[in-house]
Amino acid sequence: MSRPRENYREDVAGRANVEDTPELLAYYDELEKLEAGALWTVANKIEPWEPKSDSVPVLWRYKDMRELVLRSVSMVTPEKAGRRVVYLNNPGRREYSAAVGWLFSGLQVMHPGERASAHAHSASALRFIMEGAGAYTIVNGRKLTLGANDFVITPNGCWHEHGVVEDGKPCIWQDGLDIPLTNALETNFYAVHKDLTQVVTHPVNHSVAAWGNAGLRPYGEEWNNPYSPLLKFEWGPTYEALVKYSKVTDGSPYDGILMNYVNPLTGGPVMQTTGAAMQLLRPGEHTRAHRHTGCAVYQVSKGKGYSIINGKRFDWQERDIFCVPAWAWHEHGNASNSEDACLFNFNDSPTINALGLYREQAFGENDGHQPILT
Ligand SMILES: [Fe+2]
Ligand SMILES: [Fe+2]
Repeated sequence: MSRPRENYREDVAGRANVEDTPELLAYYDELEKLEAGALWTVANKIEPWEPKSDSVPVLWRYKDMRELVLRSVSMVTPEKAGRRVVYLNNPGRREYSAAVGWLFSGLQVMHPGERASAHAHSASALRFIMEGAGAYTIVNGRKLTLGANDFVITPNGCWHEHGVVEDGKPCIWQDGLDIPLTNALETNFYAVHKDLTQVVTHPVNHSVAAWGNAGLRPYGEEWNNPYSPLLKFEWGPTYEALVKYSKVTDGSPYDGILMNYVNPLTGGPVMQTTGAAMQLLRPGEHTRAHRHTGCAVYQVSKGKGYSIINGKRFDWQERDIFCVPAWAWHEHGNASNSEDACLFNFNDSPTINALGLYREQAFGENDGHQPILT
């Protein structure tokens, strides 16, 4: 007796629509024994009409997460944990430890005087600083000091380690990585540095002093790596740039004033697989909804507001994190009529674009705003 099976039939010309018969069911069983199957039984599942994300929109409120993250300090050392991180686990992507799609996100905490050992991995990583003082990171011998809302990259294959100086304050930052992507592609390597620490080879913040000056290329500096020579993007100049730009543009109907963090040598993304952006929503601004391929993890850098994702409203404030799954309708609003609000996000758009898979659609009805589902 053949077992019942889902065959994903669709009564649409050109789509698989084969009725099960005892003869076919027996045939499917025979194929299964040879580790094979009939495409028409799964075609409509594996080739949906449009992307179907398993991820669900989630908001991780900092006020809920913070105490739990801090509590890990008394229970686990960075030495034992490797990295003392509480990760964000999307209910639709638990199997992959993903925050959304193929992106990982976690909150790492470090106390003054602590340091994590140097390591390298194929996943590209970034940090976005949430709170504290005295944090630093060393990327391939380049030491960078980190302040709140600074954004720092650790590209694929780079040795890196983090710590907080003795007279600093407890630090929490978001770690964003494409671990699920590198695992999906079966390309992930991990190495621990033989000395557990690196030699610092450049003056502290050399990368920013050399490469962080808009429109100016440092004479005599060589850079032959496929990622940005500017490894840290500080909050001050980033916010100033957004405010300046907001005075001369209407911005995007979907994102307000948005600027991508880029490799100053190429104008392209900061890392090969992972991109990042900062956007500013002007007081009272409510953007129109759109959707696109690729997903993103957002962190609120300033102000408070809300995002409507697939018809569900999420109210956010500073340091909250939320995700937008691939092909999910989304629009953002600033809840204040006097203050601007800023959203940082990291995303897989460099991968999506490099593979020619980017599609975008505007929400045409209702003046571009989704009906709220209750
Ligand atoms: Fe790492
Ligand atoms: Fe978007």
